Amino acid sequence: MIDVHCHLLPGIDDGPSDVAEALNLCRLMVANGITHAVATPHIHLGRWDNTEQSISTAYDTLCTAIRNQKIPLQLGMAAEGRIDAEILPLLAMQQIPMLGRWLLDGVDYQVMLLELPHNQVPPGSDKLIAWLKTRNILAMIAHPERNKGFQRNVDKLEPFIAAGCLFQLTAASVVGGFGDAAQELADWMLDQRLATLLATDAHNDKGRRPLLAEARAHVASLYDEQYANLLVQQNPQRLVAEQFDSLRGFGEL
Ligand SMILES: [Fe+2]
Repeated sequence: MIDVHCHLLPGIDDGPSDVAEALNLCRLMVANGITHAVATPHIHLGRWDNTEQSISTAYDTLCTAIRNQKIPLQLGMAAEGRIDAEILPLLAMQQIPMLGRWLLDGVDYQVMLLELPHNQVPPGSDKLIAWLKTRNILAMIAHPERNKGFQRNVDKLEPFIAAGCLFQLTAASVVGGFGDAAQELADWMLDQRLATLLATDAHNDKGRRPLLAEARAHVASLYDEQYANLLVQQNPQRLVAEQFDSLRGFGEL
């Protein structure tokens, strides 16, 4: 399986605090059946002031440690950007590493993993999404099922759907780890075929550990193997193929 949203890099956000913790989490990813993971640390200005530079430095450190420890996990690198006005200059300076690419209506977009605040859908989000598209960037909305605004009113998803946004459901939500409201919205999005893929959003080995195999099994039992594989293998591969030598070329399938 391929995980496109996780916090694996040491010491730069609320994921692992050091290399030893990061390696421990990488081993948990492998034990969960994950072969490829794109590390997506937070870029949330004023809280996690990461840039392309801070992320790539931590990424290089972890890649070396993974190689030395012979952990069979291929690592890619992107970021989870928090939606706010201050993100615009960072985007203009190309300081937000992109997740991958996605073909939509004949346009080959770069894809950015975009995080909304958990308690609401900020007014003007649709304008930011439209502005991103003018810069050839398509938003993948991180864990919409955990957003209280969407939970209260699914119609708020409509402008994001109309704009062609991609949607990442968090594996733990799918199996009930973030409560009933998140699981119900995840179920609804799965049923409506609105979910693009599942990802772990793993942060640690306790409350935020990788549960992709469990979520995959849940989808397979509710629907079928084909749908489960689409969400944990085929769509992730299509999105992040260019990050990995071993997957390159699959993005065009
Ligand atoms: Fe995250």
